[in-house]
Amino acid sequence: MKPCEIKKGVYWVGVVDWNMRSFHGHTFSTRHGTTYNAYLIIDEKITLIDTVYGPFADELIENIRSIVPIEKIDYVVSNHVETDHSGSMPAIMKLIPKAKVYCTKKGREGLYKNYYGDWDFQEVKTGDTLKLGKRTLTFIEAPMIHWPDSMFTYCREEELLMPNDAFGQHMATGERFDDEVDQCVLMDEAKTYYANILTPLGAIILRKIDEVVKMNVPISMIAPSHGIIWRKNPKKIIDSYVSWAGNQTAKKAVIVYETMWKSTEKMARSIASGLQSSGIEVKLFDIAESDRTEVIKEILDAKGFIIGSSTHDNDMLPSIAAFLELLKGLKPKNRVALAFGSYGWGGGAVASIERELKETGAEIAQPSVSVKYVPDESEKKKCFDAGVEFAKRCI
Ligand code: FEO
Repeated sequence: MKPCEIKKGVYWVGVVDWNMRSFHGHTFSTRHGTTYNAYLIIDEKITLIDTVYGPFADELIENIRSIVPIEKIDYVVSNHVETDHSGSMPAIMKLIPKAKVYCTKKGREGLYKNYYGDWDFQEVKTGDTLKLGKRTLTFIEAPMIHWPDSMFTYCREEELLMPNDAFGQHMATGERFDDEVDQCVLMDEAKTYYANILTPLGAIILRKIDEVVKMNVPISMIAPSHGIIWRKNPKKIIDSYVSWAGNQTAKKAVIVYETMWKSTEKMARSIASGLQSSGIEVKLFDIAESDRTEVIKEILDAKGFIIGSSTHDNDMLPSIAAFLELLKGLKPKNRVALAFGSYGWGGGAVASIERELKETGAEIAQPSVSVKYVPDESEKKKCFDAGVEFAKRCI
């Protein structure tokens, strides 16, 4: 993909990874691919903001060379150590060994420990500035959004915020800007990204947004390190982050289950009917057949989640166990949860699910729902009623 001028003298020089299908050790399915966004600022001092995933280093270098001889780069700003943004640093620094590398203290530690490069590191803190000529960059440390080293880079003259991972989306597109793509797809991908990466960091994100708002800096464009650049309405994604980080939920419940011979599935469907009859939006997923990334996205704004499994070897089935492991790490706040499942003789899955649910931090609704073998009509009614009761907790 050719470079694109996003502001006069500021270029997107990133790459589009059309074929990336899983991310972060297969915890995130990137069904629409992704992009690694890097930016080049042409001023008296020429500056590269972030690089791209290592296998794409040649494309990044080619993009830069189409604008300026790469040897003319004076500064490299590394907003984030993770390899999808720093993986091309060794290739770049080999060509410009004298360039100064601006990053946080943790960034310096991380870059060194990943690449062992003898580079001219310049550690920066929040409020530090870097004069490029007509433009000045201001650095804003953003620890744990989403790694300890993370930072944002702001250019006041361009009203441009480059916050690395924050406000990004995993979307491979030929278009670069928010006003060029389908808004529903864009917001769905931004929500998926937030839900699967940033859910546990809501309090930190709210504090950081507040800090940036209090700096009273104009922002007419947000250029993240993945996906589409927000130029038409950057406030839209900021407002969405405030809502998600604030754990604002809808009258909605997500049922996630795994079933051996469809008894647990019958229970799930009856619970769903009870919720629906009470005016609650319901999403239902057989986790063995579903994309976990999609399910986590649906949970982001759901007040309740209901988790079920058949009993197998006195415990829950493995796919739902893996899903709960993911949910425990994300710890969505201010939620209510319920366990259910079918069994043949001893049982055990429902108790295990409850134990795991407690570790997600959710309030556990009682009683849980268990059925021996196949639910009859009265047991289906019991599940329906459990849905009706749970609905009262989702308002
Ligand atoms: Fe935290 Fe896109 O890397």
